[in-house]
Amino acid sequence: MYCYRKVKEDLYWVGANDRRLAMFEGVYSVPDGVSYNSYLLMDEKTVLFDTVDKAVSDTFFENVEAVLGDRTLDYVIIHHMEPDHSATLDGLVRRYPDMKIICNEKIVVMMKQFFEFDVDSRAVLMKEGSSFNTGKHNLVFVMAPMVHWPEVMVSYDTTDKILFSADAFGCFGALNGALFADEVDFMRDYLDEARRYYTNIVGKYGTQVQAILKKASALEIDMICPLHGFVWRKGHGDFISKYMHWSTYTPEENAVMIAYASVYGHTENAAEVLACKLREVGIKTVMFDVSVTPASDIISACFRYSHLVFASTTYNAGIFVNMEALLHDLAAHNIQNRTVALIENGSWAPTSGKLMREILSGCKNITFIDTELSVKSSVKADQMAVIDQMVKEIAATMPKKTEVSQVPAGEMDANAMFKLSYGLFVLTAKEGDKDNGCIINTTVQLTDTPKRITIAVNKANATHDMIKNTGVFNVSVLSTDAPFQMFQHFGFQSGRDVDKFAGYENAQRSANGLYYLTSGSNAVISGQVIEARDYGTHTLFVADVTEARIISDVPSVTYQYYFDHIKPKPQPTDEKKVGWICKICGFVYEGEELPADYICPLCKHGAEDFEKIQ
Ligand code: FEO
Repeated sequence: MYCYRKVKEDLYWVGANDRRLAMFEGVYSVPDGVSYNSYLLMDEKTVLFDTVDKAVSDTFFENVEAVLGDRTLDYVIIHHMEPDHSATLDGLVRRYPDMKIICNEKIVVMMKQFFEFDVDSRAVLMKEGSSFNTGKHNLVFVMAPMVHWPEVMVSYDTTDKILFSADAFGCFGALNGALFADEVDFMRDYLDEARRYYTNIVGKYGTQVQAILKKASALEIDMICPLHGFVWRKGHGDFISKYMHWSTYTPEENAVMIAYASVYGHTENAAEVLACKLREVGIKTVMFDVSVTPASDIISACFRYSHLVFASTTYNAGIFVNMEALLHDLAAHNIQNRTVALIENGSWAPTSGKLMREILSGCKNITFIDTELSVKSSVKADQMAVIDQMVKEIAATMPKKTEVSQVPAGEMDANAMFKLSYGLFVLTAKEGDKDNGCIINTTVQLTDTPKRITIAVNKANATHDMIKNTGVFNVSVLSTDAPFQMFQHFGFQSGRDVDKFAGYENAQRSANGLYYLTSGSNAVISGQVIEARDYGTHTLFVADVTEARIISDVPSVTYQYYFDHIKPKPQPTDEKKVGWICKICGFVYEGEELPADYICPLCKHGAEDFEKIQ
């Protein structure tokens, strides 16, 4: 029996799960299974987005037929020719002989390599930026070479703001009835498998992933539909932020990953002693026996943690086999930006330390801890001092915890303001025919009876003048599912330059005739100004609440949550800039001195919210 799920009004998931597969791609264990996602758009034209692996073809074809009903399939889009997504293409061609195949030139070449059917008469070729209209929907194609094969492209539905991301943003694990990431506790239950999927499948191609992330950052994305794992319809800012870490080879955590190869337990003992001593000085450690833990788990951990220790016995005058394979695998996955310590063992001629160093020396930006431990058969008491020294050197390379500064009386540390636990809001107003909105962080309830609030609004914002002239506003309380694009849209551009509500779909009007947000927001409060006070850069408005409504149960965004989970982390760059960076939005002012009265052109914060680029 068919088993599909509705993704959007006219979009259906018609994929399937495989829980019998032992090794994905013949290499990666998938104890929780894997999903092969395919999506079917029922527009004026019927369009299938990719197919599935042969192992689940029966369910897939049943799903496609059930959703199509009495219609035929007009098009299939092939984003990626790897057989886990294209193996059933020939079966599809047999079932729907008039179907066209939307693809690109590189995909055509591979399609002819894999299949015997007539490709040329069916192929509809797309290039970077090409678009294809299906009726109500408009699809734009973006090439994504090496994410994960050279022919890969992704597509973006400009109508529903959906990114069909191919392998990107995928995850190991069968879906188990859920389709959307928000139907499960993804960060708790699936992040490790998502990391293992990313690092092992596309970890090598960080630069190419960065390129596609850069293209994606220019899009307003409401939903991400990957070829494996869950569909993202909210909260994908956190996941994109993880991709930023992984693709730039930036550690997620300052901690030590210890992988050891030990035949009779003596090398393991050296690793254990080191781990205990690291813990004693407060450093987090994780440990893996390379003969027990699959390499894909260890590689994933190497991408997660900042410090890596490899301990190996010497074996056939070389590195122990599993450790040697792991290190070559790690180097092939392009690991970089890590601090590494080495422990070798050998009963007559220990050489594994030197050989491990040779493999890792080929990786970019690896810092070796000076002290190496060379064990002859087993650790001896006089070597405890060597391990202590190794711990000392590892600790010295860990970022220091911020020390509590002794601020003399009267001194001002502007960063203290960031410790305030205020939220973030979209403030909307309307003057004549013109609507506008901006981001503020200063909405406070003043009294309960009557219900009154205050808002402080920067005079540089166009919304400020509208409220001053009309005395009416709405505050949309932003929730944790608000995407970064929403902050960019309302916070990083001026209503004097653009109409922020032109074509903006996630908004409705409240009783006062003003817009409020229906997505990325959990409540709306309408205010009628009863008093306005001038405070220099800002005006403080006191207002009676005229309407208040709950929109969703998603928690409110705090300033801290925005910085930790929504605002993308700055990407490392070789280019050294001289200037000042806005701590709020990341805008860079180029120049040695920042004028004291400078206002950020993007987010309208003042000079006090800039810090010098070091
Ligand atoms: Fe899921 Fe690269 O295939």
